[in-house]
Amino acid sequence: MSAQQEPFDADIVAKARELADRYPQSRSALLPMLHLVQSVQGYVSQEGIAFCAEQLGLSEAEVSAVATFYTMYKRKPCGEHLVSVCTNTLCAALGGDAIYRKLGEHLGEDGKPLGHEETAGTPGERGSVTIEHAECLAACDLAPVLQVNYEYYDNQTPESAVELVDALRRGEKPAPTRGAPLSDFKSVERQLAGFFPEEEDVFRADVDGPSQAVETLRGAQLAADRGWTAPAMADNVPLPELEAK
Ligand code: FES
Repeated sequence: MSAQQEPFDADIVAKARELADRYPQSRSALLPMLHLVQSVQGYVSQEGIAFCAEQLGLSEAEVSAVATFYTMYKRKPCGEHLVSVCTNTLCAALGGDAIYRKLGEHLGEDGKPLGHEETAGTPGERGSVTIEHAECLAACDLAPVLQVNYEYYDNQTPESAVELVDALRRGEKPAPTRGAPLSDFKSVERQLAGFFPEEEDVFRADVDGPSQAVETLRGAQLAADRGWTAPAMADNVPLPELEAK
């Protein structure tokens, strides 16, 4: 193994090969491979970029272009937990901005609030917490929401968010409002790469956790109660003509 692959052991190399083999064009494996890299280091380092490039026959510039485009790929080491506070319009209006401000102040030091993608504690160590502001987390019906390692905590307030991060700092893992039990950022990154826990009970808890809430289903429930259905689709809908260039 070359020196630049040093953080990535034989097991990770085997997993990278498995990812590359899943696609007709191996470069399609880049997105999950970047998550695999994050599951090792807690971020996409320069070594991680070189590793992906080598595994997929890409240039480091091509890998960097992808890694810097998507916000789920972190350029600095993440804490044990990543706390994403939705500050998009609806959440912001209902308190998301206040939650983000409060968490920043609470986790900051010497009067300096913690900023976007900054970490309280030592990244990767138990109880370390990185915060970020996020765009719509697709749970507007439960606003304001935040996520820890992409698990939902609905209907938050500044006070409940502070309680939550204090519990994380103590090494606790409070149950999300719905979905899978809370684990940690690196473990979730391994799943996002496409590798799930082998223990059957852990696997089932992760994939079977109910992800919907009553609010999420209310529209569908109302339609079912009233017998409303969507208009039937025609069997054959002609495609629009394309204008010749
Ligand atoms: S605006 Fe926050 S989840 Fe949509």
